[in-house]
Amino acid sequence: MSLEIDVVTLFPEMFDAVTKYGVTGRAEKNKVYQLNTWNPRDYAEDSRKSVDDSPYGGGQGMVLLAAPLEKAIVNARARLKSIGIDDAHVIYLSPQGKLLDHEKVLELSGYGSLILVCGRYEGVDERFITRYVDEEISIGNYVISGGELAAMVLIDSIVRHLPGSLGDNNSAKEDTFSDLLLEFPQYTRPEIYNGEPVPSVLLSGNHAKIKRWRLQQSLGKTWLNRPDLLAQKCEEGLSKEEELLLEEFKQQQDYKS
Ligand SMILES: C[S@@+](CC[C@H](N)C(=O)[O-])C[C@H]1O[C@@H](n2cnc3c(N)ncnc32)[C@H](O)[C@@H]1O
Repeated sequence: MSLEIDVVTLFPEMFDAVTKYGVTGRAEKNKVYQLNTWNPRDYAEDSRKSVDDSPYGGGQGMVLLAAPLEKAIVNARARLKSIGIDDAHVIYLSPQGKLLDHEKVLELSGYGSLILVCGRYEGVDERFITRYVDEEISIGNYVISGGELAAMVLIDSIVRHLPGSLGDNNSAKEDTFSDLLLEFPQYTRPEIYNGEPVPSVLLSGNHAKIKRWRLQQSLGKTWLNRPDLLAQKCEEGLSKEEELLLEEFKQQQDYKS
C-alpha cells in the first residue's frame, strides 16, 4: 500500500516541485506514495475568505486562524477514513519543533499516513496545535517564511526510503547518515579532470580494495566534517578494521599538512 500524504497548505501549487520532478515525481507516478493538498482558504468562514488575523496581546504580523485549519484536517481525515485509514499522524512543520534527522525520517517512513500542516506569517493559533498536532518538526535552527519548503524536505527525505522509489533499493542505505557516517567521495568521467586523476583504487576493479577505501574515506570525512557523528559512532563501537583505517587516514592528513 502506498504512503498517503495529506498536506494542509495555503500554497498547494508549490508541491508540484515534489510531485513533478526527479525521484519524488517518479515515485508519485508509480504510486509509491500519494499526495493530496487541503487549502485552509477553501474553509474560510467569511466572504473575504480570511485565513488569518492579528495576534491577541499585540505585536507584528498575522496568525493563521484555527477554524479553517481544523476544517482542512477534518476533511483530510474523512478522505483517509473513506480508504480505511483511521490513524493519520499529524505533523506541524515549525522552527519550534524537534530537529529532523535521519532516525526521524526512517521512523516516519514506516507510517501508512501523514498529515503535514504548513504554517505561514507568525505561525498558527496555539489551540489548533494542542488539539490536532501529534508532533512538531523543524528542519533546522533558522526561520523560513512558510512550512511548505519544510514539508517538501520532509516528504523527499521520507520517500527516498519507501520501497520502489529509488532504482536500486539499497542506495538510500548507503547515503550519508546511514550507519552514522558521511558518504565516501564520488567520481565519474573523465578519468583526469583539470589535471586531477580519479583515485587509482577506483579503477582497479578490485571490489574488496574499493570497499575498504570507501569505508576509510567515510570514516575520515566524518572525522573531519562531523566529529559529533563520529563520537556517536565510536560510542557504538568501531570495529578493529575501522579503527585501523581511521588511524591511517589521520596519519595521511598529518603527512599532507
Ligand atoms: C515565519 S515562520 C513563523 C515563525 C514563528 N513566528 C516563530 O518565531 O516561531 C512561518 C511558518 O514557517 C514554517 N517554518 C519556519 N521555519 C521553519 C523551520 N525551521 N522548520 C519547519 N518549519 C518552519 C512554520 O510552519 C511557521 O509557522
